[in-house]
Amino acid sequence: MLQLTDIHTYYGHVHALKGITLQVREGEIVSLLGANGAGKTTTLNTISRLLQPEKGTYELIGESMLKKNAGQIVQNGIIHCPENRRVFPLFTVEENLLVGSYTRRDKKVKQDMERVYEIFPRLKERSSQKAGTLSGGEQQMLAIGRSLMGKPKLLLLDEPSLGIAPILVQEIFEIIQEINRSGVSILLVEQNAHMALEISDYAYVLENGHIALSGQSKDMKKNDDIRKLYLGESVS
Ligand SMILES: Nc1ncnc2c1ncn2[C@@H]1O[C@H](COP(=O)(O)OP(=O)(O)OP(=O)(O)O)[C@@H](O)[C@H]1O
Ligand SMILES: [Mg+2]
Repeated sequence: MLQLTDIHTYYGHVHALKGITLQVREGEIVSLLGANGAGKTTTLNTISRLLQPEKGTYELIGESMLKKNAGQIVQNGIIHCPENRRVFPLFTVEENLLVGSYTRRDKKVKQDMERVYEIFPRLKERSSQKAGTLSGGEQQMLAIGRSLMGKPKLLLLDEPSLGIAPILVQEIFEIIQEINRSGVSILLVEQNAHMALEISDYAYVLENGHIALSGQSKDMKKNDDIRKLYLGESVS
């Protein structure tokens, strides 16, 4: 459904993405891995059109997204759950969820909120609590819940496990799989390569603005050299 071909993105004179070609097929979870500064967040920001690519093609279900603005990208069903969560700290949990539905014109918002509360019972218990007082893991759940309120076809997740206790990471990864089973395709940016390869169908490894490597996640997981060279794992 998503196809990027030879995408180049700059920050002023800094050439951050140097020809990214990747695709996400309908129903897939695709991981985008790589070290700090490789260009993972820049790739997601280019897809959600917070950044304008200088060159390349970008299609969603065969339609070019290059001329769309960030709001139109959302209306096309691509929802970006940003790095570092970015919840509104002074709004309650429920108010944050409502913000996620702001572009919608249908009347099923209430129903979808119930569904988010079903997926994240912790959020339901805390619906009137100020988001800034939630734990890091709960804020991550809220950020994902808020993204779901936008009714994504394709969900862009930027480092959902960052700074979160292992037990909650496990829970969040299970929920990501559950969201995917409900029909949402997912592009998952992660430094936790091990977990990401565990739940994704396909993976790309970014290195310094290039795709250094790509393949089926199950094959990458098996390849010790790949894990050592590209994923910073010490393989015994
Ligand atoms: N606003 C900016 N202005 C200039 N350069 C930037 C800006 N944002 C990012 N960069 C540069 O672009 C490159 C890619 O950054 P990006 O944030 O995409 O990396 P990342 O893979 O998401 O890293 P991390 O794992 O640390 O989040 C880096 O060299 C970074 O310094
Ligand atoms: Mg990043």
